[in-house]
Amino acid sequence: MPASEPASDAGGQQHHAVHTAVPPALVDEYRAARSRSARIFARACRSMPGGETRAVTHYPPFPTVMERGTGAELMDVDGNHYLDVVNNYTALVHGNAQPEASAAIEAILRDGTVFPAPHRSQIALAEEIAERVPAVERLRFTNSGSEASALALRIARRATGRRELTLADGGYHGAIAPFTSGEPDVVRTPYNDRLALEATITERTAAVFIEPFLGAGGVIPAEPSYLHAVQDRAREVGAVFVFDEVQSLRNAPQGTAHALGLTPDLVTLAKIIGGGMPIGAVGGRADLLELTSPLVSGRLDHAGTFNGNPVASVAGLAALRRLDVTAIARLNGSAAKLADEIAAAGAAAGAPVVVTRSGSILNVHPGADAVRAPADARRAPGFRAALHLSLMLEGVYTTPRGMLNLSTALTPDQLRQVADGYTRAFERLTSQPGLLEEAGALAP
Ligand SMILES: Cc1ncc(COP(=O)(O)O)c(C=O)c1O
Repeated sequence: MPASEPASDAGGQQHHAVHTAVPPALVDEYRAARSRSARIFARACRSMPGGETRAVTHYPPFPTVMERGTGAELMDVDGNHYLDVVNNYTALVHGNAQPEASAAIEAILRDGTVFPAPHRSQIALAEEIAERVPAVERLRFTNSGSEASALALRIARRATGRRELTLADGGYHGAIAPFTSGEPDVVRTPYNDRLALEATITERTAAVFIEPFLGAGGVIPAEPSYLHAVQDRAREVGAVFVFDEVQSLRNAPQGTAHALGLTPDLVTLAKIIGGGMPIGAVGGRADLLELTSPLVSGRLDHAGTFNGNPVASVAGLAALRRLDVTAIARLNGSAAKLADEIAAAGAAAGAPVVVTRSGSILNVHPGADAVRAPADARRAPGFRAALHLSLMLEGVYTTPRGMLNLSTALTPDQLRQVADGYTRAFERLTSQPGLLEEAGALAP
């Protein structure tokens, strides 16, 4: 496995979570306000391995257990309050319990939650997505982005009669084979490296999957010309060009591929299209999607008990309709401002950071050097862990790897509070002499 490949949707933080020492003073303060979380975590460990069911949500000494979320506010089981800048890893673009999505869910619950039959709600969501995203001529639903990746690859393999799959170093498309590490028929290509494409995308390639920015890999944007070069090379050798918009759909009204002038054969979608419920989808060229049609003999069977379930469909439709041009422009503008504020706060406190960003998704990286490669996004894991806990203590709910993203629920006042939270968290880390050094937190 190449060193830069994320081990999971944790983007490598899984490893750091177990092995990184965090300054003991921070850990003590964290524990002191989370006795209920600690008890629940101990109980969880008796039924679930490591008390968890999702790689990305564990961090030492134990994860805070959440009680409820409304809009941009979260409350944990100990009564601690946070401003939410995780939004379930970009899925909750309107924040928690968004009233219109919740009302749509409540309304449909009375009529049943899932049927072994087509339902108007799934057709309405498919139409909304097709209207919005130009590459989507037809669409098929799954239950997650990982499943969408698997389906897109099956379609590509059927269409081309080839096996090989090209993925970017540090790219993340889901937690199932062959998108995880060490799988056969997978070729890795260095991100943003046009010269490598001739060797890594060939006549043997069935599909090339690419994100417009490495999401789990540290929010590292691609050069637009690189993405065009990937598309051109895929076309040249007859491979299917799959554009992963699972995270990036929120960043542009018609999706990021369209904003960059790209014309993917297939796009994978998930997260925001479910309005807070589990979902995924593959959209794209009609001739490719029609390979899954029941009206086609010898079709590619794509089954799934909950595919296109009405609860996710109505919630997703409500969420997408609220995410209009104005909302996206506001989100992206607020994110740009916050990125500047966080970088300035780090510098002022003597803890320089680089903030990478794509649209309304950001990543705070320790150190002053540019972040260009996946390895840069994993430097100084101790600092990342310490900053994460400090932010939790300051009431900002963010991620261990440093990723944060905005929701439309965040008011200007709350955005200011988030920026102030970063200022105080940086000061916490630098005001106590030796705090970071003690934990080896500044070590690369
Ligand atoms: C770019 C990208 N693709 C695919 C996935 C997988 O989606 P899911 O977690 O819904 O399986 C993710 C999840 O984080 C993602 O960020």
